[in-house]
Amino acid sequence: MQVVHTIAELRQALAGYDHPAFVPTMGNLHEGHLALVRRARTLGDVTVTSIFVNRLQFLPHEDFDTYPRTLQADCDKLAAVGCDIVFAPAEDELYPQPQTFKVQPPPALADLLEGHFRPGFFTGVCTVVMKLFQCVFAQAKGERHAVFGKKDYQQLMIIRQMVQQFALPVTIHGGDIERAPDGLALSSRNGYLSDAERAEAPQLLLALRTLAADVLGGEHNLAALERRAEQALAARGWQPDYLTVRRREDLQPPGPHDLQPGRLVALGAARLGRTRLIDNWEF
Ligand code: PAJ
Repeated sequence: MQVVHTIAELRQALAGYDHPAFVPTMGNLHEGHLALVRRARTLGDVTVTSIFVNRLQFLPHEDFDTYPRTLQADCDKLAAVGCDIVFAPAEDELYPQPQTFKVQPPPALADLLEGHFRPGFFTGVCTVVMKLFQCVFAQAKGERHAVFGKKDYQQLMIIRQMVQQFALPVTIHGGDIERAPDGLALSSRNGYLSDAERAEAPQLLLALRTLAADVLGGEHNLAALERRAEQALAARGWQPDYLTVRRREDLQPPGPHDLQPGRLVALGAARLGRTRLIDNWEF
């Protein structure tokens, strides 16, 4: 496995390959990321993982400075699953000047849910993903593949639509959520949790699954269900941002005809102490 830090080195390492499969990450890798890399290995003739903590997608009060940076451990894990190239640029390699050209996703996709609570987040994500795609795919001759996790459900949807609207020659693949045995979705931010918080953390998924079961059980007053779910978590000491049932296709609130199995997803974000967790459950 080759570890490269500049765009020029990356392009050199990729010369001779025709169809890269790419997994963008911010590092501090866990089984969720590694599952995406294993998937990528089945898709292309060379597997590239990027590790870059993207300042553009953090708000000033968020955890950019403290986000865990564990490059050596990440590289060991990537080598073990058969990644070929790790692209780990320094900030001034990817952003040598302030990144004033940006990719702005439409408010109908990007201002709801995560985007409502983290204004500008998806502009930061789309901008860095577009740039990383240029770094990884520019010289490819055949198919280009990129793999994203369903853990960040809205991110996956927005990236798919960005690729479609810009006619990018990249196929986007969605990887299932990898979970701990107690159901907690794996996340780099889980490391912030105290032991007591870690024991409580699976309640977010339980709340989403209860929401889903109530809808499938015939409870159709979604606003009341969502409020009840948020109140139940709040009573356990969480600070919920949202718990909501949406249509999978566009993340809009479902109409009466959408309330059937296979079309919906329950999404939630809530803070437990100082850690913000997100999760979702398709049903
Ligand atoms: P990061 O949070 O590091 O996640 C990298 C990829 O791993 C994303 O596609 C995310 O959805 C996926 N992932 C994280 N936890 C997962 C889990 N438990 N199961 C399956 N997949 C999981 O998402 C980002 O980085 C950034 O926004 C990025 C796309 C790299 C742009 O900066």
